[in-house]
Amino acid sequence: MSDEAAWPQGGETVAAVVVAAGKGLRVGGDLPKQYRRVGGRAVLTRTLAALAASPRITRIQPVIAPDAQDFYRECVADLEPAMREKLAEPVPGGATRQQSVAAGLEGLARSGTPDLVLVHDAARPFVDEALIARAIAAGAEHGASVPGIAVSDTIKLVEAIAPGIGAVRETPARENLRAVQTPQSFRFSLLLDAHRRAVAEGRDGFTDDGALAEWAGLPVVVFEGDSHNRKITQAADLIEADRAFSGRAFSE
Ligand code: CTP
Ligand code: MG
Repeated sequence: MSDEAAWPQGGETVAAVVVAAGKGLRVGGDLPKQYRRVGGRAVLTRTLAALAASPRITRIQPVIAPDAQDFYRECVADLEPAMREKLAEPVPGGATRQQSVAAGLEGLARSGTPDLVLVHDAARPFVDEALIARAIAAGAEHGASVPGIAVSDTIKLVEAIAPGIGAVRETPARENLRAVQTPQSFRFSLLLDAHRRAVAEGRDGFTDDGALAEWAGLPVVVFEGDSHNRKITQAADLIEADRAFSGRAFSE
C-alpha cells in the first residue's frame, strides 16, 4: 500500500485522545508509569511526540489525573513547539479507563468535532507512523477498528474455581484470536454516541473502546497491529522500554 492511500479521503480531520489518567498500580512506585522516564524522556512525552509527529493528526486531547498537572506540564515542556501546538488543554480523567476516554471525547466535542478519532494509551510509547496510517485507513473505511496481532500462546477460556485455579471452559481456535492494542480508530460521532449511551445506561468498565463499540452494536474490524507496540504494564516492561529507547534519537 502506498503511503498516500492511508490518508483519509476528502480532507477529513483526525484527532487523537491520549488516556493518561491511570495510576499504574501494576508497575508500582511513587510516580505513575506514564511519567517515568525511558531513554531519558517521560513515557507520556514519547507517546505524545509520536502522535504529534504524524502530519495526519491535527489535534490531540490528553486526559490526565487532576493531581498530575505539574507532571503533565513537564512532559509538554519537553516537546518541540510545533508538536505542542497540536495539544488541547488536558481534561481530567475518571476512575476507569472508559470514563477517561469519555472525558477526552467530550473535550474534543466542545472544540469542534473531528471526522475520525484515534484513542491511544499513554502507556504505549512505541506507536509509530505506519501503525497510525493503518489505524486511520481502517477507521475511515470501517467506522470502528482496532489493531490486533496474532497470538502465539494457546488461549483458554476459564472460570475461576479457587485462588489461582481456573476450570477450562473452552479453547478457542488460535488462528481466530487476536491480541488487541491501541490506537483504536473510529468515526468520531459513532464512538461519542456509543460512549454517551453507555453513560446513559450505567455501563462502565469496558477495558477498550472496541468492546464498548461492540456492546453498542457497531461492527468492529481488526487491522494489523504491531508486535513492537507493547503496553507498559509491569515493572519489567518499563525496564525493557528504557533499554529500547536508550540510544535512540528522540524523533525516530
Ligand atoms: N487510564 C486512564 N484512566 C483510568 C485508567 C487507565 O486514563 N482510570 C489509562 C492509563 O493511564 C493507560 C491506559 O489507560 O495509559 C491503559 O491502562 P492501564 O495499562 O491499565 O494503566 P493503569 O490503569 O494506569 O495501570 P494499572 O491497571 O496497573 O493500575
Ligand atoms: Mg488499569
